[in-house]
Amino acid sequence: MASDDTGEGGGAGIRKIGVIGAGQMGNGIAHVSALAGYSVVLNDIGQDRLDNALATIEKNMSRQVSRGTVAENESAAALGRISTSIDMAALADADLVIESAVENEQIKIDIFEALCPLLKPGALIASNTSSISITRLAATTDRPEKFVGMHFMNPVPMMELVEVIRGIATDRDTYARVTAVARRLGKSPASSEDFPAFIVNRILLPMINEAVYTLYEGVGNVEAIDTALRLGARHPMGPLQLADFIGLDTCLAVMQVLYEGLADSKYRPCPLLVKYVDAGWVGRKSGRGFYDYSSEPPTPTR
Ligand SMILES: NC(=O)c1ccc[n+]([C@@H]2O[C@H](COP(=O)([O-])OP(=O)(O)OC[C@H]3O[C@@H](n4cnc5c(N)ncnc54)[C@H](O)[C@@H]3O)[C@@H](O)[C@H]2O)c1
Repeated sequence: MASDDTGEGGGAGIRKIGVIGAGQMGNGIAHVSALAGYSVVLNDIGQDRLDNALATIEKNMSRQVSRGTVAENESAAALGRISTSIDMAALADADLVIESAVENEQIKIDIFEALCPLLKPGALIASNTSSISITRLAATTDRPEKFVGMHFMNPVPMMELVEVIRGIATDRDTYARVTAVARRLGKSPASSEDFPAFIVNRILLPMINEAVYTLYEGVGNVEAIDTALRLGARHPMGPLQLADFIGLDTCLAVMQVLYEGLADSKYRPCPLLVKYVDAGWVGRKSGRGFYDYSSEPPTPTR
């Protein structure tokens, strides 16, 4: 155990990582974990989703190979370390499970209920939730002291930050080991206390929500709002483009958590954001949000 904790460039005794949810975040987490040398099992509710995730990982890794940031043999070895299963039992020997399923508290709770009895007693659980209380999720498991928030940024292979969030019960060993894993993934961890939406989204999502209000009130159209923030505030992406990228359903879920968790009307989700989500226009992943992605370049929908 001790040799594991210090060895393998900060492996912290973790060799096998389970990833639950193979969507845009889960496939990125599997990607960087495999490249860092971990053995990875990716789980989702349908084989088609797992096949899509593997295809995305292959495509993204081959892009890294063609850019020269990853060697061809490293990419091949990493792909060989990823297995997939729709059966959660495949995660039974994982040392760390990173849950990255949809941002829905009940779904996450159901996942932990099914997962915990399968896991080794010492296995750690992390959630990639953007906003849900780590303390509350941890309390639904059999190991609140081994439960932690590991909040990756999108797209995972490109973005350097991981917020590591301690629930009230998270023990020091879990926090230290998960921080070591984040470093081994090539990420810079930032520590956040467990309050609604943590640090990045507490600041970023109200800005996006305000951009949607600006659109709703007719202050500017999609193009004007995004151009204004790109050129006027030097943001690499406009807030509406960023919202589409994150997923409008995720944006709305985070605003609801802020609104309810901090009980302050300044966090009320914009009705136009709700309308887009109701329409199923949830951004890039559905082909349409504040932009329509069926043509290149994407065209604004307002
Ligand atoms: N999108 C972002 O920018 C971003 C950034 C950081 C964190 N997150 C968080 O990451 C998590 C996933 O977000 P995403 O953007 O990848 O969403 P997504 O919709 O792309 O993927 C979610 C995946 O979860 C799967 N899933 C649903 N129920 C499941 C279950 N019971 N068991 C296993 N898999 C299940 C779905 O099939 C889907 O493939 C959310 O908690 C979100 O808040 C998102």
